[in-house]
Amino acid sequence: MDKTIAVIGAGTMGSGISHVSALHGYRVLMLDAQPGAVDRAREMIAGRLAREVEKGQMTAENRDAVLARLVPGTWEAVGQADMAIEAVLEVMDVKKDVFQRLDRALPEHAILATNTSSLSITEIAATTSRPSRVLGTHFFNPAPVMKLIELVRGEETSDATVAEAQAYAASIGKETVVVEKDTPGFVVNRVLMPLFIEAMRIYEEGIASKEDIDKAIKLGLNHPMGPLTLADLTGLDVDLHVMDYLYNEFHDDRFAAPLVLRRLVRAGRLGRKTKKGFYDY
Ligand code: CAA
Repeated sequence: MDKTIAVIGAGTMGSGISHVSALHGYRVLMLDAQPGAVDRAREMIAGRLAREVEKGQMTAENRDAVLARLVPGTWEAVGQADMAIEAVLEVMDVKKDVFQRLDRALPEHAILATNTSSLSITEIAATTSRPSRVLGTHFFNPAPVMKLIELVRGEETSDATVAEAQAYAASIGKETVVVEKDTPGFVVNRVLMPLFIEAMRIYEEGIASKEDIDKAIKLGLNHPMGPLTLADLTGLDVDLHVMDYLYNEFHDDRFAAPLVLRRLVRAGRLGRKTKKGFYDY
């Protein structure tokens, strides 16, 4: 594999996407606007790979090869990429700015993918000169482990672009579903957010403890994690952002964020950095 992928954003999702892509032979250019973010992401990935070596799941040579493929990138170097995946903040203007830069930097054959978990692909694509080459590739957290990528078509996404994204997904060991209509939340988050909301309301109403709510869904529905634990994993600020976006788009109470969530997110922003989730309180 001699393909190069540019991953813009080195947060949880960007580093997970970089990790799984490098693991499967891609050279990955990692970019992040925040100084030090790429180094921190590479260290985190190195730590995970080291544990795999310790467990005998990977050789030290393979680990070194994977790490060597994770390259801190620059916007000039993005010109070498065959594909770019954007995983920056879920803020439309930030994404549009990244896509305009990608459009200028990437070679003509490259596809431009966004890991947005809910925003409009069509709106993002419209800021580029090649909307047919733009699509959503929605990974799930933790990206190296979770099997699915939702491929989301914008209004103008071509069949060839979807096929190339399917080939990329298969090459990194992922399954895909195609979301044919660019709609808020796609499939998974449209189903997941009401589940989170109902679990949070049950907690808010004192109907059961957070531990018992999670236990009920884990054992009663055979989910690997309860919804409150999962909401902590995905990040309460991200969850609130997605709910508010869905609520504004659909004008439907199904997506109305519970007050307890808003309260916890505000408390987190007040600098109480160690308190970020349901299980920190
Ligand atoms: N990066 C890489 N590997 C990881 C990892 C990470 N962040 N987290 C866990 N792993 C690996 C572990 O190394 C371990 O590998 P081995 O089996 O090879 O040793 C394996 O995953 C299992 O991990 P654990 O034994 O530590 O724990 P577990 O069996 O409880 O699994 C879990 C952890 C995979 C997170 C599992 O609990 C799970 O699947 N939870 C549900 C996750 C989920 O639903 N994610 C989707 C969130 S929604 C979303 O992302 C969309 C959105 O837009 C909000």
